[in-house]
Amino acid sequence: MSVILPNAAACARVPVTRIRMAKSTSYKPKSKSKTQESVRTLISSAAIQRRISEMAQEIRRDFPAEPLHLVGVLKGSVFFLTDLAREISGDISLDFIAVSSYGNRTETSGEVKLTRDLDSSIEGKTVIVVEDILDTGMTLQYLLRVFEQRKPRRIRVAVLLDKPERRIAKVRADYVGFTIPNEFVVGYGLDYAERYRNLRDVGVLALGKKEKK
Ligand code: IMP
Ligand code: MG
Repeated sequence: MSVILPNAAACARVPVTRIRMAKSTSYKPKSKSKTQESVRTLISSAAIQRRISEMAQEIRRDFPAEPLHLVGVLKGSVFFLTDLAREISGDISLDFIAVSSYGNRTETSGEVKLTRDLDSSIEGKTVIVVEDILDTGMTLQYLLRVFEQRKPRRIRVAVLLDKPERRIAKVRADYVGFTIPNEFVVGYGLDYAERYRNLRDVGVLALGKKEKK
C-alpha cells in the first residue's frame, strides 16, 4: 500500500527561534540532579484546537460518506485523538494500539515492539492512524506494515506534529497539524520521562544546568 502524500500547503508552519537544547540525539540529561527543566510554549492550546478543527473538516471532506475508524497510538495521541474525534462529523469508531522502541531511544535501531494490540479487526475499514508526532518515522513505518497485512479498506495517517528534519523512514502523514523544527517538545500528550503530557500547550523542553548553591 502506498501512503498518500500530504498537502504541504495545509500544514501550518511554526516559526520558532532556536534555543539551546540538549544534544538532538539524546533527550535525557546526563544526571537529573544537575539539570533544571523548563518549557517554552511553542503552540498554544487555542492554536492547537483551531488546527484540529480544520484537520477534522479536511478528513471528513476527503471521506464524506463513510464510517471512519480512528486508531490512536498510545499514549501520546490520547488528547489529540479525543479532540479530533469530537470534531469529525458523522460515523466514527475508535481503537488504540501501543508500541515501544527497543532499548534506548537515542539509538535509532528502528526496532519497534507492539505492546498493546487493537481490540477489533480493521479488515474492510477506512482507518485513520492518529499519532502525536512524526519524528524518525520508524514507529509509523512499523505500524503501517502491521496494519496493511490486516486488509483495511484504506489507511490514512493524521499527526499533530511533524519534525521532517529527523526523518529516517520513508513515511509521510496525510494530515499534519504543525510542521516544527528539530526540537524536543512536550505537552498535549507528549512526554519527557512520562511527565508534561497534561500541559494544554505544546512547548519546547529546555534542559539547563542547575545553579550551584
Ligand atoms: P519516531 O518513531 O521516531 O517517529 O517516533 C515517534 C514517537 O517518538 C512519537 O510517537 C513520540 O512518542 C516520540 N517522540 C518523538 N519526538 C518527540 C518529542 O519531541 N517529544 C516527545 N516525544 C517524542
Ligand atoms: Mg507516540
